[in-house]
Amino acid sequence: MLATAPGRVNLIGDHTDYTGGLVLPMAIDLATTVEGVPGGDEVRLTSEELPGPAVVPLDVAEPQECEPPWARFVAGVVAVTTPARGFTGVVSTTLPVGAGLSSSAALEVALALALGFEGSALELALACQRAEQLASGVPCGVMDQLASAAGVAGHALLIDCTTLAVTPVPIPEDVEVVVVPSGDVRRLAESAYAERRAQCEAAIALIGPLAQATAQDVATVADPVVRARARHVVTENRRVRDMVAAMAAGEVAACGALMVASHESLRVDFEVSTPRLDALVAELVATPGVHGARLTGAGFGGCVVALTRPGTLRRGWRVQAVGGAEVVRW
Ligand code: GLA
Repeated sequence: MLATAPGRVNLIGDHTDYTGGLVLPMAIDLATTVEGVPGGDEVRLTSEELPGPAVVPLDVAEPQECEPPWARFVAGVVAVTTPARGFTGVVSTTLPVGAGLSSSAALEVALALALGFEGSALELALACQRAEQLASGVPCGVMDQLASAAGVAGHALLIDCTTLAVTPVPIPEDVEVVVVPSGDVRRLAESAYAERRAQCEAAIALIGPLAQATAQDVATVADPVVRARARHVVTENRRVRDMVAAMAAGEVAACGALMVASHESLRVDFEVSTPRLDALVAELVATPGVHGARLTGAGFGGCVVALTRPGTLRRGWRVQAVGGAEVVRW
């Protein structure tokens, strides 16, 4: 059995998925593979990149307590998908682990397929989102797992996180998508993520679903922090819509400007950037041939995504949009 699942980079629309908003990620040509043989009553995986085997009994109760840490994601998948048989195999990845390109989502999705998960790409993504939440304790949204499960070659995915409808959006032909690591290790990401989500929920309690809220609604929120968080989400949803229109029209300069505005909103209103991410975005945006750049994913470190004229940047990863996860061989 051999299953593979891609990582993702989000072009625009961050911290919008868990309030039913819009996101625009693409599955990328860096991926995680799980290969092995079904059987037995435990899932036993070794990794070519990470230390220690992950050994998880089929009746695992507390995924968060497993060691080594990557075994928690294995345990999350086992707990959610409840496979009838165990599995012995090897995990390998071309994704940088923990850099914000959804290496954990790729592991979950590839493993669920290797363990025999049957269902649609959406069902696979929802199961793996639950696995991620169990493993990490972070109340993440569905973007990463859905991008990995439902990727379309040459396209970004417009995901409406209220309806979970996925609409492929062609990447303009005359651009490159480049991912540049900031070198910042993500710190306090788990607690800060949960805090941001709680602040968004506080805003929803006041003005209703943020996916439908207007700037006028946001202005009625008294607490300045909750107001700023809501303003990010409401303006970011609008930017995703505008980005899809700009991509369709081939207006790459407009795409770049939207990415820069997204970064500013994540920096000022959502406060999930870091000085290194800010400096990297500023440096990239000042480079001739770069249309725009922004932090991508949860923030607090991780990577910047840049949209460029082909051949502009000689650093980071030049990524292609690829198809979603699949069983390569039974
Ligand atoms: C992480 C989460 C996603 C999403 C992003 C921010 O990657 O796993 O669900 O919330 O952060 O956009």
